[in-house]
Amino acid sequence: MTKIGVVVGSLRKESFSRKIANNVAKLFPEGYEAEFIEIGNLPLYNEEYDGNSPEEYVSFRETVSGVDAVLFVTPEYNRSVPGVLKNALDVGSRPYGESVWNAKPAAIISQSISNLSGFGANHHLRQSLTFLNMPVVQQPEVYLANSQDLVDDSGNINNEQTVQFLQSFVDAFVDLINKQ
Ligand code: FNR
Repeated sequence: MTKIGVVVGSLRKESFSRKIANNVAKLFPEGYEAEFIEIGNLPLYNEEYDGNSPEEYVSFRETVSGVDAVLFVTPEYNRSVPGVLKNALDVGSRPYGESVWNAKPAAIISQSISNLSGFGANHHLRQSLTFLNMPVVQQPEVYLANSQDLVDDSGNINNEQTVQFLQSFVDAFVDLINKQ
């Protein structure tokens, strides 16, 4: 079984990012399993903790180590990645030389409730993942706009064309994982 860690950049219960992630998790083929990795309980990263990390860091790093690839689904906050997601990247990247992100294939979906679709967050995240040595799906890029119109009351994506597009994205991610 290939495990896909799913990291959502919003802590909101009704988060569109999470609802979109729930939809995308179902598009992986047989033999793939999505595991949501929670990031809201991680204390703010402090380098002083490197020698004696809080329990939350230890179990988070173990969980990320145990997955084969990571899907990030995130909103944009102030033209960048939400702090909670950046914090998770930082926690996973240390102690120096022991990054749990290293070499794991990754894929990014950004979304927003406007037409902008999280372009800034998508590319700032891409920049960090490049440094973290994570091969990232290049094409198709996924920027989802007007999420409030895309997700129905039951949390399902209501537009077949978007589902097909997301399927092609998942297929590209699976190809990337298989090449590693
Ligand atoms: C936003 N939002 C937002 N949208 C956008 O397109 N560009 C931006 O820079 C921002 N900045 C921003 C900052 C903060 C602090 C908040 C709370 C919101 C709006 C954002 O796209 C919208 O709230 C999404 O619905 C958040 O995603 P979730 O929580 O639904 O996953």
